[in-house]
Order: sequence, then structure tokens, then C-alpha cells
Amino acid sequence: MKQTKRANFGSRLGIILATAGSAVGLGNVWRFPYMTGQNGGAVFILIYIGCVLLLGIPCMLNEFIIGRRAQTNMVRAYSKLSGGGPWRLIGLLGVLTGFLITSYYAVVSGWCLQYVYASLAGKLKGDPQYIQQFFTDFSQNPWKPIVWMLIFFLITHFIIVRGVEKGIERASKLMMPTLFVLLLIIVVASCMLPGAGKGISFLFSPDWSKLNGEVFLGAMGQAFYSLSVGMGCLCTYASYFSRDTHLVHSASQIAVIDCVVAILAGLMIFPAAFSVGVSPDSGASLVFITLPNVFQQAFGSMPIVGYVVGLLFYALLSLAALTSLMSLHEVSTAFFHEELHISRRAGAWIVTSCCAVIGAFCSLSLGDVHIELFGKSLFDLFDFVTGQLFLPIGGFLTCIFLGWFVPKHIIHEEFTNNGRLRGRLFGIYLFAVRFVCPVGILLIFLNQLGVI
Ligand code: PHE
Repeated sequence: MKQTKRANFGSRLGIILATAGSAVGLGNVWRFPYMTGQNGGAVFILIYIGCVLLLGIPCMLNEFIIGRRAQTNMVRAYSKLSGGGPWRLIGLLGVLTGFLITSYYAVVSGWCLQYVYASLAGKLKGDPQYIQQFFTDFSQNPWKPIVWMLIFFLITHFIIVRGVEKGIERASKLMMPTLFVLLLIIVVASCMLPGAGKGISFLFSPDWSKLNGEVFLGAMGQAFYSLSVGMGCLCTYASYFSRDTHLVHSASQIAVIDCVVAILAGLMIFPAAFSVGVSPDSGASLVFITLPNVFQQAFGSMPIVGYVVGLLFYALLSLAALTSLMSLHEVSTAFFHEELHISRRAGAWIVTSCCAVIGAFCSLSLGDVHIELFGKSLFDLFDFVTGQLFLPIGGFLTCIFLGWFVPKHIIHEEFTNNGRLRGRLFGIYLFAVRFVCPVGILLIFLNQLGVI
């Protein structure tokens, strides 16, 4: 392979939007609002913001520092910073995690796209039983979800092969503002419904009685997942940052965008749900069963508004999923491209085809074809292994690596752009990485495993 100059993002805005695109995903829409409503409203939001500041931003900075310093894929980055040795295994774990998440994230992304089509064709109309049946039939159908997943993969693939600046950056600059506009339109429509106030107060009124250890751990876990920490997306994107990128500012801006989108998602879902007296849940059932009903009933007197809101909602979800899937795909593409010394296009094809095959099995495992391992469907198993095991392990080891093993001057150089910035927060950052984050992540990990 001809050695060419390594790709870079072309602008600051591109960096922020692409990385925020990775962070803003299904987690913002289907998990955060529900957790907030269940765990004390405004109290949860405050705790969540605390977790983002103390845990999320330092962990993002870890990956930014490693990626930008090494300017290479994740495995080689860890290897470079540690001078070879076993630390590269964390990089490998990150790539593996990214690879597996790509596979099943694409399945759900395909569902979103299918729902765009179904809303467009006016198929999401009917009583609640019908909507429930529609989802069950669709997700258990052997081939339909696979076809939609493949379409989604191909869209991602063609963005990725166009490169970092012309592909990922350009697409993010187009998609993120669109996503934001769609979100605002739906929020306004939802908040104008009669009885919407009850949803807003459910989301925001602080209920201190809900405060307990579980809430803290839930908030930490969500902060971690929502910021895409721990699986190499941030590290890989940071390898395309410029030497002038202000890492602390970028991490903070991305975290703010991610939080704002999550809170707006709450304002999109709860007012509409409460206006028709439905109490919203979370996860796939919220997005694919509860909400189509809610939109239909809430805008029952203006069916055309209901139609448009439903359609925009699934378009928004598909965009959120696409920008996240791009970042996941890029982790493995960069890895194959650089480690196997093949072209970027060939690397991307390896990722797309392997992940599509694994994704197809994940999809089938939800239907009549029972593919079970350790008592879980393949889909649930991947979700569990990556989200609850690999992610925290990767995040934890990265903190230990950077906080205790990488020479401090290297971290300081990256933190301050080689002394050009003042780096006033360096001490706090280092303290967080050495002590606060490892302890926090360990607690989340044990909690998710049910040990504490
Ligand atoms: N952060 C994304 C979300 O909130 C999920 C994600 C995780 C995306 C890891 C990319 C990588 O949904």
C-alpha cells in the first residue's frame, strides 16, 4: 500500500459534530428520558450532570489523548504509548467491542429505517394490539429485518469509504443539524398538546426521596454509555483531530450537546405520553410499540400532524443511529486498513461484510431461529457482553493505563497542546483519572453484574 498522509477532520465544527454524532444515539432517546422520570426527575438530571463532569469528560479525554498522540488505530495507539507490551490488549478489546456493537446496533438501526418506511406508507395506524403485533411480526420475521439492516450497513459503508473529511465529517455536518431541527419540531408539537404539563413536571420535578445508591450507579452507567466511552470510537476519531484541537473544550462541548439532546428527547416523549395517559417505558418497546400509539392518539384530532410527527421521529432516530454506527464502523475500518496494510475501502468491506453476517445471526436469534448461548439470545448476549462487561473493563483499564503508566509529561503535552494552552484543569483531570474514575467504573461494573 502506498503510504499517504493520514486523514484528518477538516474543521473544528466537523470534529464536534462528528464526535457528538457518535455520542448522540439510541441511548439518548430510549434510555435517558425513562431513567430520569423513574429516578427523581430533576434530581437525576443533576446527578447525571455530575457523573458526566467527574467521570464522563475525564474518560473522554483519556481516549482523546491516546488517539491524538498516537495518530493511529486503537490497537497500535495503545501499543505506541506503552512501548509495546500487554497494554495493546486493551486496544484489541476496544476494537473487538466496537466490532460486536456494530453488528447488533445495525440490527436496531435497520428497525428504525423500516419504521421510517412504515410511517411513510401509513402502515403504523391501528389499535394498540395491531401496533404491538406489527412490531412482533416484523422483528421475528426471518428476512425483513436483515434486509433493512443491510440497507443501513450499505449507507454507513458508503459514508465510511468516502473518507474522514469527505465522508464522516460531511455527513455529520449535514445530519446533526437536521437531527436537532427534527427534535425541536417534535418537542414543540409534543409540548403543545393538552395535558402536556404533567409530562414536563414528571420529567423535571425533583423528588429527593428517590435518591439512593442505585440511582447514582444508573446515572454513571448511562453517562458512560451515552458518551460512547470505552470502545475506541473516541480514540479513533481523536486520531484524526488536529494538533490544535482544544481537547478539554471539545470534550465539554460534546458532553453538553449529548446532555441537551437527551433532555430534549424527554421533552419529546413525556408530554405526548402523559397527554394520552400512557406511562412511557424504555428500550425497544418504547420506541417501536408505545410511541407509535402515543403519537397516533395524541394527535388523533389532527391525523396529518400525527403522521408527520411519527415520520420525523423515526427519521430522527435513524439519523442518531447512523452517526453512531459510523463511529463504530470506523474503529474497525481504521484497524483493518492500517494493520493489514490494505486500502480503506477494503478494510471497510471486511467490517461491513463480517458485521453484516454476525448482525444477521443476531437478528435471527430474536425470531423463530433460536440461537442461544449461555441462556441468552445472541442479540442479548452481545448487548450484555459488550455493554456490561467489555465497556467498563476497557474504560477501567484505560484509566489505569493513562493515570499510572503513561509518563505524565506526555499526558500534559496533549492536554495543553504542547504547552500552548494553560491547562489549568490538569490537576483535577489527573486526580479524576487516577482515583475517581477507576473507583466509579468498578462500582458500575459490580452493580451491573448484580454483585452490589
Ligand atoms: N452513545 C450512543 C448512544 O447514546 C451509543 C454508542 C455506544 C454509540 C458506543 C457508539 C458507540 O446511543
